[in-house]
Amino acid sequence: MASTPTLFLSLLLFTTCFTFLFSLATAALCNSDDKRALLAIKEAFNNPYLLASWVPSIGCCDWAGICCYERTGRVYSLYIYQDNNLTGTIPTAIASLPYLRYLMFHHLPGITGPIPSALGNLPHLDQLTISFTSVPGPVPSFLASLQSLTQLDLSFNSLSGSIPASLSLIPNLTFIDISRNHLTGQLPPALFQNASQQPAYLRLSHNNLSGEIPSSYLRINFVQVDLARNKFTGDATLLFGREKPLQKVDLSRNMFQFDLSNVVFPERALYVVDLNHNKIFGSIPQQINKVDNLQIFNVSYNRLCGPIPTGGQLARFESYNYLHNKCLCGTPLAPCN
Ligand SMILES: *[C@@H]1O[C@H](CO)[C@@H](O)[C@H](O)[C@H]1NC(C)=O
Ligand SMILES: *[C@@H]1O[C@H](CO)[C@@H](O)[C@H](O)[C@H]1NC(C)=O
Ligand SMILES: *[C@@H]1O[C@H](CO)[C@@H](O)[C@H](O)[C@H]1NC(C)=O
Ligand SMILES: *[C@@H]1O[C@H](CO)[C@@H](O)[C@H](O)[C@H]1NC(C)=O
Ligand SMILES: *[C@@H]1O[C@H](CO)[C@@H](O)[C@H](O)[C@H]1NC(C)=O
Repeated sequence: MASTPTLFLSLLLFTTCFTFLFSLATAALCNSDDKRALLAIKEAFNNPYLLASWVPSIGCCDWAGICCYERTGRVYSLYIYQDNNLTGTIPTAIASLPYLRYLMFHHLPGITGPIPSALGNLPHLDQLTISFTSVPGPVPSFLASLQSLTQLDLSFNSLSGSIPASLSLIPNLTFIDISRNHLTGQLPPALFQNASQQPAYLRLSHNNLSGEIPSSYLRINFVQVDLARNKFTGDATLLFGREKPLQKVDLSRNMFQFDLSNVVFPERALYVVDLNHNKIFGSIPQQINKVDNLQIFNVSYNRLCGPIPTGGQLARFESYNYLHNKCLCGTPLAPCN
């Protein structure tokens, strides 16, 4: 699953609330405004069984999926996930939880309707996840008002339209996952530009995005880039470079067309390079042998030529990672003449 690492960490975090300070067993005293907002959310979802622990006689800080600040009793996280029965739209009452930092709706296929604009009124929101739902419509540009946002996960929904350029106005947003939707249009050139010193994660696989990678992305310190299964064209060499922190790059099943010969691969952390099904030409640079931790290298279905570098990791990989090129040769393919 595309968003596994962060999601897993997040779930871990939220099934066990952070206990701030050195608290004893005493749960925080639930703030009554927050409690009212949560009960409105429960009602908007038609009082589902999943939220059966949300009852007025118990403090809201003890309800499933809720975490409160110890000192103030204000709700800072709300996680609702894994229920095929829950139906409805994302309740506007969310906006009445002003201290919310972490919000997750995950694996709730019965959630429909667009992302409500009320969501833009959460000044402290740090991580927003709406994934594996049936939410349609555009990626709303009002998300730009979430100025504290660092992670946005809108993967596995039914979102369409283009990526709003306004997302680049969020200064510390460095993780964006909108993979597995129906996005069209091009990559906004300004994306990540104000966070370009920080490590960036961009996952947009399985959409219908097109156009070239903007030249401004040269400055971004990408750790992960997943653009697989779109309609991107042109040059992707700007993603590479010896000093980049890049770990995973998946450009497979697009129409990228560039000369691989002069690419310098980052040597420190890179472990996944998947370029299969593009129009990449030239040869595989010998320098790939300096990438010690390389675990996946797939250049099949391109227009590459020349010998597969020897002496490093490359000969370890099965032949189907190299098949269907113009004239690649050497182990694990047939010997070069
Ligand atoms: C969903 O509905 C089914 C059938 O009514 C029920 O067995 C199951 O417990 C429900 N799951 C949740 C999480 O409410
Ligand atoms: C962005 O991050 C910096 C450094 O961590 C922090 O000082 C700043 O307050 C953050 N900006 C916002 C709007 O959260
Ligand atoms: C980046 O920050 C500067 C100064 O804070 C601001 O003027 C500019 O609009 C920002 N650009 C983007 C793309 O967010
Ligand atoms: C991309 O567009 C094609 C043609 O319009 C369509 O059949 C396909 O379902 C779209 N894919 C996605 C992921 O939206
Ligand atoms: C490399 O890509 C080809 C073509 O899509 C695929 O058949 C093969 O399984 C891929 N190799 C790996 C290791 O994923």
